[in-house]
Amino acid sequence: MAIKKILVLHGPNLNLLGSREPEIYGRETLEEIDARLAERGRELGLAVHCFQSNYEGALIDQIQAAANHCAGILINPAALTHYSYALRDALVAAGLPLIEVHLSNIHARETFRRRSVISPVAGGVICGLGSEGYLMGLTALHKLIKAKAEKNG
Ligand code: DQA
Repeated sequence: MAIKKILVLHGPNLNLLGSREPEIYGRETLEEIDARLAERGRELGLAVHCFQSNYEGALIDQIQAAANHCAGILINPAALTHYSYALRDALVAAGLPLIEVHLSNIHARETFRRRSVISPVAGGVICGLGSEGYLMGLTALHKLIKAKAEKNG
């Protein structure tokens, strides 16, 4: 079976993982998380491309490009989760299987974090399980992609 490409997107401030509020987000760096995702991807037959940006437009550019050459998207939109209709619209337009991930349990924190404008358009959401959630998210995305392929014959 041909290797499928996956786009992993990390939103604003996630480049600071490791030193940013480690009691909430853990001590692992983004590089370490990306390395684990690449390894799990290899096991699943997926080529994982990871991208972090502090800019909404840069994330949207990646999503638009992925629509043509990726099989699915795994995203931690970070603070954009709570208000970015532009990000949501880009994800809908891409039309790819989508999993949303958060390191922290966004429902157990400040009120403004409880609402995600991305969740209604995601195939699934994982939150509160730390970096492990990204790996679970990749496995879930793999299943969504397989199910889509089977459905489309
Ligand atoms: C986050 C939760 C968001 O509310 C926050 O703005 C982040 C990270 C998480 O992974 O828990 O930057 O998406």
